[in-house]
Amino acid sequence: MKIAVLGEGAEGERRVSATPETVKKFKALGAELAVERGAGAHATIDDKAYEEAGAVVGDRASVIAGADILLGVQGPDPASLNGVKPGAWIVAGLNPFGERARVDAYAGLGVEALAMEFMPRITRAQSMDILSSQSNLSGYKAVLDAAAEYGRAFPMMMTAAGTVSAARVFIMGVGVAGLQAIATARRLGAQVSATDVRSATKEQIESLGAKAIFVENVAGIEGEGSGGYATEMSDEYKKAQADLVSSHIAKQDIVITTALIPGRPAPRLISDAQLASMKPGSVIIDLAVEQGGNVEGAVAGQVVERHGVKIVGHKNVPSRLAADASALFSRNLYNFLSAYWDKDAGRPVLPDEDEVTQAIRLTQGGKVVSERLLG
Ligand code: NAI
Repeated sequence: MKIAVLGEGAEGERRVSATPETVKKFKALGAELAVERGAGAHATIDDKAYEEAGAVVGDRASVIAGADILLGVQGPDPASLNGVKPGAWIVAGLNPFGERARVDAYAGLGVEALAMEFMPRITRAQSMDILSSQSNLSGYKAVLDAAAEYGRAFPMMMTAAGTVSAARVFIMGVGVAGLQAIATARRLGAQVSATDVRSATKEQIESLGAKAIFVENVAGIEGEGSGGYATEMSDEYKKAQADLVSSHIAKQDIVITTALIPGRPAPRLISDAQLASMKPGSVIIDLAVEQGGNVEGAVAGQVVERHGVKIVGHKNVPSRLAADASALFSRNLYNFLSAYWDKDAGRPVLPDEDEVTQAIRLTQGGKVVSERLLG
């Protein structure tokens, strides 16, 4: 049973899908590990550390040859998989909706593509959930990025030269990233408020010591669809939300938006007119920028200024904390594969009727089999 750890080909990707810690753990299960040369360099893991953990380090062709499982952070370019064994698994964040053609190419190669971001949000799969582990770090980093761009302090400071007032921080979208952003901004001493379409988040916001800003008395307030995710809201709700946000946002110094709806473009939460109502020097971090953006005028990969407001659109925010992001991502992959390890077979086995299998398996036997993609 050979597991290959691929170097990441995507531009700006600094993470890696295995660490010396997970290499050792896989070895303890009886697997052989092969790591592509330089795979961990940007996450501050050198080849020697992998060798010391018991992996063989080599070029891509040698790593792929004979591998039963290929690990990646992002899906590998199908053209870079020459010599891959038919039936081998690719286990990575595959961006199945955004990279649909790639999924077809994986089917064409006869490999079994397993999309880790489709992991169901069920208790037993929590430790395998890459969206949670990476969003948590994104929420934290978003606050630090905002603090770095903001020309003022976060906490209130009483000094001999006078008082510096606390920054007002507004978090829009209180999933995993939003909750961590609230906690981080609070730790820095900001005055924090937050909003979401899912009414269940109200209590979570308040328990973190922030103020909940919610649309009231409008049909469809529940906002919660399957698996704890948000749904698309009614027009009436959207109008009420826009009015509420307009009055609140003009008083904010920092806004962090994280709102996503699975399989759809990110909802637009801040218009150009709302931006114009903000104070000059305010900062917005759009964590949804790669899914179309929550903020009008946000540009992926850039910091732009409109109406005196900085709009930060960093791509791949978890990769900006590559060492920690890699450690958590790698453990997610290990937790998944080890949970399905079959001692007799000496490898993981995914039962067809299993909820996790059905959610994450995109291709099998040369075909696309994922209901979410075919549906
Ligand atoms: P996400 O990344 O899909 O979306 C971020 C947030 O944006 C969500 O809270 C969503 O409700 C909100 N949002 C969407 N449209 C909005 C709009 N128009 N205005 C304001 N906010 C909007 O969400 P994430 O972080 O993946 O979490 C989704 C849910 O899953 C949460 O309830 C979380 O606690 C739960 N969860 C459960 C896990 C488990 O049981 N294994 C693991 C991780 C998360």
